[in-house]
Amino acid sequence: MTARIDSETAYGMTPGTYDRALAEVGRGTPSGELLRRYWQPIALSKDVTDLPQPLSVLGEELVLFRDGAGRAGLLHARCCHRGTTLGYGKVEAEGIRCCYHGWLFDVEGHCLDQPCEPDGE
Ligand code: FES
Repeated sequence: MTARIDSETAYGMTPGTYDRALAEVGRGTPSGELLRRYWQPIALSKDVTDLPQPLSVLGEELVLFRDGAGRAGLLHARCCHRGTTLGYGKVEAEGIRCCYHGWLFDVEGHCLDQPCEPDGE
């Protein structure tokens, strides 16, 4: 009995390959570091509102919002306190407040308020 060679479907083909240095854009990859040196269009200004928008850019999960002063903010989607998503955050005049413990971050990611931490601890 001879083995039948599959020539009419993709089952007999070798998997496709790609050049990782060119195709991967995550943090720390050559292409990712190059692309991070340039502005990347990610949304229309008119679509950035006080409703946080989770989005993925260059392999990173981010959240986009506009604070009460009209400034656009783009932060890592995970709160630096316990890592919950800021996609469920509440946008206020100065930034976005995490829904779990209430830390407030401005549009540049600075933590402005930690309501449950006694006296700056
Ligand atoms: S997880 Fe965001 S403030 Fe605690």
